[in-house]
Amino acid sequence: MKDDQLLEKIEAKYNDLGENHETYLKGLLHAKPINYWEYIGVDTLLSLQNTRTNFKDEEIFIMYHQMTELVLKMMVHEIKQLVYDDFKEEIWIDKLNRLNRYTALLITSFDVMKSGMSYEDYNTFRSTLTPASGFQSAQFRLLEIYCTSLGNLVNDEGKTRLSENPSLEEYFEHIYWKDAGYNRKTGKKSLTLRQFEEKYQNRFISLAKKVQTKTLEDKVLKMASISDALKEALKSFDFQYNVAWPNVHLHTAQHYLDKKGENQAATGGSEWKKYLHPKHQQRKFFPFLWTETEKNNWGEQK
Ligand code: HEM
Repeated sequence: MKDDQLLEKIEAKYNDLGENHETYLKGLLHAKPINYWEYIGVDTLLSLQNTRTNFKDEEIFIMYHQMTELVLKMMVHEIKQLVYDDFKEEIWIDKLNRLNRYTALLITSFDVMKSGMSYEDYNTFRSTLTPASGFQSAQFRLLEIYCTSLGNLVNDEGKTRLSENPSLEEYFEHIYWKDAGYNRKTGKKSLTLRQFEEKYQNRFISLAKKVQTKTLEDKVLKMASISDALKEALKSFDFQYNVAWPNVHLHTAQHYLDKKGENQAATGGSEWKKYLHPKHQQRKFFPFLWTETEKNNWGEQK
């Protein structure tokens, strides 16, 4: 583009906005050049590690959770595009491959939480975190809502409690993750669950209303045909995200909470050994892609 064309285009751009382009050019003359640290927000990012104890690994523990939240944000960002835009299959495969890379990052890095962090230190500083738990990660739930219909987030036990035509709110009452803190016999909910529902439940329900019939599952089911490559990418995402990642997380929980056969209480107070197992949760985003045998053996990968 020639210089005079550039100026003409700038003028036209601001004319369209009903603005005087010269004002903006003058502003540009005085504006400070951008730099890496402001653009990336490095100082803000590095100021967010507020520890509650002096144990050195607590800061690593916080940063690793923050890193996971950022990766989840990248994933939700990709998934939202698939939900709200109409892409060709090629783009679906590209985006799913990206989702699989992000998930691989979560899986392969999780050992940072397990190896090298002192068992005693962790079990001491974690008591200052009660009743906070990774369970309260909202992005973890948002991602599920964008990916699949609510029926796939109710396990077999939950399905026996559903009425014939459950409303969206009813699905939410029986969604698998309530098992972490809801004693259905006594009707009591843990503080961890109550805090979480108070803060996010309305947001989850309104998102579920907005995306019903548009989730990734819905969109794939509406495709005229799906290639083997797309099928593989979807299955890989379902398996990595809903079995492999939960399993590395569960092994880490076992390492700290059950290493000595003590079966200690988790900060969120769930019956974690049962609750965290992918076989119990039965969370699948694309159940129609799996055979009956695969579904029955769901979560058995170690
Ligand atoms: C030492 C490391 C960790 C241990 C021992 C651990 C333990 C647990 C336990 C026992 C639960 C069940 C809920 C409860 O009763 O608190 C849980 C849930 C959860 N944690 Fe962790 N966790 C660890 C690290 C992480 C990290 C790094 C993340 C990343 C954000 C994370 C995210 C989650 C999520 C999303 C849930 C809910 C899972 C679900 O509903 O399926 N955890 N964790």
